[in-house]
Amino acid sequence: MYIIGGTASKTVAEDLSKELKVPLANTISKRFPDEEFYFRILDDIKGKHVIIVQTTYPDLNIIELFLLQNAVEEAGAKEISIVIPYFGYARQDTKFKDGEPISAKAMANLISLNADNVITIDPHKEHILDFFSTSAHSCSAVPELAKYLKKKNIDMILAPDKGALERAKQASEIIGCDFDYMEKTRIDGTTIEIKPKELDSQNKNVAIIDDIISTGGTMAKSIQQLKKHGAKNVYVACTHGLFAGNAIKKLSSAGCKEIIATDTIQSKFSKVKIAPSIIPFFK
Ligand code: R5P
Repeated sequence: MYIIGGTASKTVAEDLSKELKVPLANTISKRFPDEEFYFRILDDIKGKHVIIVQTTYPDLNIIELFLLQNAVEEAGAKEISIVIPYFGYARQDTKFKDGEPISAKAMANLISLNADNVITIDPHKEHILDFFSTSAHSCSAVPELAKYLKKKNIDMILAPDKGALERAKQASEIIGCDFDYMEKTRIDGTTIEIKPKELDSQNKNVAIIDDIISTGGTMAKSIQQLKKHGAKNVYVACTHGLFAGNAIKKLSSAGCKEIIATDTIQSKFSKVKIAPSIIPFFK
């Protein structure tokens, strides 16, 4: 068995290699002056099971994944497993309007071409797994996020919308605290509305948990509501920290105590490692 980490997911690949005691393949990768990607596997992987680890965000990393998959296939691997820590384009999982692509399906079709198994973490909706023509599974970062939050004396976990309720409930059970949710309506890609709601957050340490922080709008509005209801400290935690545009500024201005993300997308907020959530699939 070998593990190959794409440039978007080097640390996750290293962690998996250590935990599973599977070597990282020796590879060469670089970008040509025109930004095209070059890749070469130096080890003989013929007849081996190879795990490729690569987040498909931003777009450059998608092409990189396709080239890694092709290199592994061309080198005669027996089995190819693809770990996609953050599966980009998963949110366009249906045609919301006529004429749109089903982006998650387009991605899944192409990734399935050179894959025997696909594993991804906290996809926005589980049904995207059905778009793969190969076996596809998801795993959850919530237990690892909850372990981190437990050290912060959290009194309540909040879901910013009903879609995140199960995650909040699961985290609250691990931490041993209350949970609640907000009512969110999405107006468009950058505008959301969070309805004011009675929240028992007076003087409490609250953590809001979600799958993705993109523009930070959802979290910022939720923080404001909590602060209005007298929350003491508000933490925000997500699996995938995209932090688009001025998301970080929005969160700090709203009064966020700490921003926590996993390393599915590497950033200075990647305080929680995702590898422990993936390991059970390979044991
Ligand atoms: C949407 O339902 C997701 O779970 C997140 O709440 C959303 O992607 C966050 O986006 P933003 O940070 O732009 O509000």
